[in-house]
Amino acid sequence: MSKVTVVGAGNVGATCANVLAFKEIADEVVLLDIKEGVSEGKTMDMMQTATLLGFDTKMTGVTNDYEATANSDVVVITSGIPRKPGMTREELIGVNAGIVKSVISNVLAHSPNAIIICVSNPMDTMTYLIHKTSGLPKNRIIGMGGALDSSRFKYFLSKALNANPNEIEGVVIGGHGDTTMIPLTRYATYKGVPVSEFLDAETLQKVAADTMVGGATLTKLLGTSAWYAPGAAAAAVVESIIHDQKRIISCSAFLEGEYGEKDLCIGVPVVLGRNGIEKIVDFKLNDAEKAAFAESAKAVHKTNDALADALK
Ligand code: NAI
Ligand code: 2OP
Repeated sequence: MSKVTVVGAGNVGATCANVLAFKEIADEVVLLDIKEGVSEGKTMDMMQTATLLGFDTKMTGVTNDYEATANSDVVVITSGIPRKPGMTREELIGVNAGIVKSVISNVLAHSPNAIIICVSNPMDTMTYLIHKTSGLPKNRIIGMGGALDSSRFKYFLSKALNANPNEIEGVVIGGHGDTTMIPLTRYATYKGVPVSEFLDAETLQKVAADTMVGGATLTKLLGTSAWYAPGAAAAAVVESIIHDQKRIISCSAFLEGEYGEKDLCIGVPVVLGRNGIEKIVDFKLNDAEKAAFAESAKAVHKTNDALADALK
């Protein structure tokens, strides 16, 4: 029996829970929020699609009741607030750090063996906060960002190639931010063939640029940040863990010298299995990619500095 809890029943959390249930990734899915009745209502609505879509996943919605989350194998953290006009990035970090810290302590009190997937933004910094405060081993703390960014990268490549996105491989590493992520165009392939065989340098540059502002483009269109792909990306990370698929997915992981960096969580390709992060895959980067990764790490470190209060 596998059990997954999703904390935060907003756009991303509810979508993730829906994908987990519909694809029968876990036997049981618990959705938790602090807003009275929202998780209960959303899970009831989802369960009323079971006979229409043909799935048989147990779903429970609860208001801040961590007893119901007990003995979860994986917990996805999507709780937090989005940035509001007039708020500084540091203020946002302060609020979300408080939420993430209290959620983690409640989660671990009831599921001491859980693997944690952090989605809340700024994701690399929130993942680092969990690393610094939870006492969990690094293989059980995973930030979801690269799975989404890589999926967007493959989408933009498929548009440029006029191809089926499932025939495309591509990975985005670095921080989960408009200027910090690094789509590795050199390693992207179409049915095993480098995409540079089909697309010129200018087109590849545009694909990379579109990928980097992928989240911002959707925020502009939707008035809030995206949720279908983020929710599905978090569910894909859960699936590789619960079903021990050993998929290589770009995730924010704690580095201790890999890619020349240490003491931060940042996006790198990892093997995901029943033990969480089972291996960090050290791709060979060229000089330009190495420089971009070092710049990205610098920016993530700078954002982490704003955690000073939360780490006291
Ligand atoms: P949302 O506002 O729709 O949902 C957030 C939910 O968290 C709300 O229902 C709220 O009541 C709940 N919440 C707040 N404090 C809580 C607490 N202490 N315990 C339990 N629940 C609590 O926001 P949305 O769109 O779902 O985004 C959630 C987070 O995910 C944001 O921080 C957003 O920036 C981030 N995000 C990250 C992505 C990534 O790739 N890492 C992609 C998209 C969003
Ligand atoms: C996204 O990439 C804002 O992290 C959010 O859609």
